[in-house]
Amino acid sequence: MSAEILSTHTAALFDHAVQRAAERLRAGELVALPTETVYGLAANALDPVAVAKIFAVKGRPAGNPLIVHVASRAQAAACVTAWPALAETLARAFWPGPLTLVLPRSGAIPDIVTAGGPTVGLRWPSHPLIQAVLRECGFPLAAPSANLSNRISPTNAGHVQAQLGDAISLIVDGGQSQVGIESTVVDLAGSTPRILRPGMIHAESLMAVAGAAVAETGPGTDAAGETLRSPGLLKKHYSPKARLVLLNWADEADLLRQVAARHLIPARCHVLAHTHLPSPEIFGQVYLIPHDAEAFARALYAELHSCDAAGAETILVELPPETPEWSGITDRLRRAAA
Ligand code: TXA
Ligand code: MG
Repeated sequence: MSAEILSTHTAALFDHAVQRAAERLRAGELVALPTETVYGLAANALDPVAVAKIFAVKGRPAGNPLIVHVASRAQAAACVTAWPALAETLARAFWPGPLTLVLPRSGAIPDIVTAGGPTVGLRWPSHPLIQAVLRECGFPLAAPSANLSNRISPTNAGHVQAQLGDAISLIVDGGQSQVGIESTVVDLAGSTPRILRPGMIHAESLMAVAGAAVAETGPGTDAAGETLRSPGLLKKHYSPKARLVLLNWADEADLLRQVAARHLIPARCHVLAHTHLPSPEIFGQVYLIPHDAEAFARALYAELHSCDAAGAETILVELPPETPEWSGITDRLRRAAA
């Protein structure tokens, strides 16, 4: 079996794809759908049998909860038992968009979705295709990233096809994901709001809107308790097949020295640079990603997927700046390098 891929670039194709996706989802099947962050592998969040297929197809541990996607405040409210003022403030500012809010879950949400936990992660995505599918279905959609467990998330339909094409029957092609890395996950169920997974909506923007402190998950938070709180924060995650090495280099000579010190062969290394571009003749491939956090996030996973497709042994990535806009990107790179 190979998944059918439906295009959406005309109004008629878009409507057809929405109808077909909704049909499959109503029937308890999985459909890969575009979102603005990364592509999601969606199932009816209220149907535990359908949701179980997500875990099976991804090879995802049962202890890792899924994000539930909604397309209205009323739909969000039905999934939770509390909607604190801060949830309202953040939702008003950032929904629809790349922000997931973790709140106490209501009885409507099956155990399998939350991995048996007392909270549910909610997100109202901004991509028009998944919004149309959500409206057509009328039920919320549980959707993790549409990749095999522990691999790089897909940011286009081709990435989904390469990893899951043999395991699912339908992929909707909604173009390249515009944000490019997964949503920021904020825990609002505890006494203080806390970022469980950084993303393109960073701590500074959250605090500006919240008018209150939002705790950041530091690098040392892989202690047992933390891992239980958000299993997706396991240190090793989101990895390409090639070994990823994060480095700073002043110029090409400096990079070559560091490569030699690590006993790497330059021709087998692919380089992802944003500022100091080495010459392409020496390395396997050299990719330039603009020195702009939004553009970098949008391109990052596609570049990592293409390094893997090209059989890179090692990917050398130029470390991003330490400013807040880059925190989500640096988080993903550190995990991929772990
Ligand atoms: O941008 C995104 O969030 C994408 C798109 C498809 O929406 N989804 C996504 O899902 O990245 P996934 O399953 O690959 O990552 C969800 C993360 C995991 O780290 C999971 O542990 C965490 O969110 N999470 C989900 N529900 C949670 C909960 N109730 N409490 C704590 N963490 C939760
Ligand atoms: Mg994922």
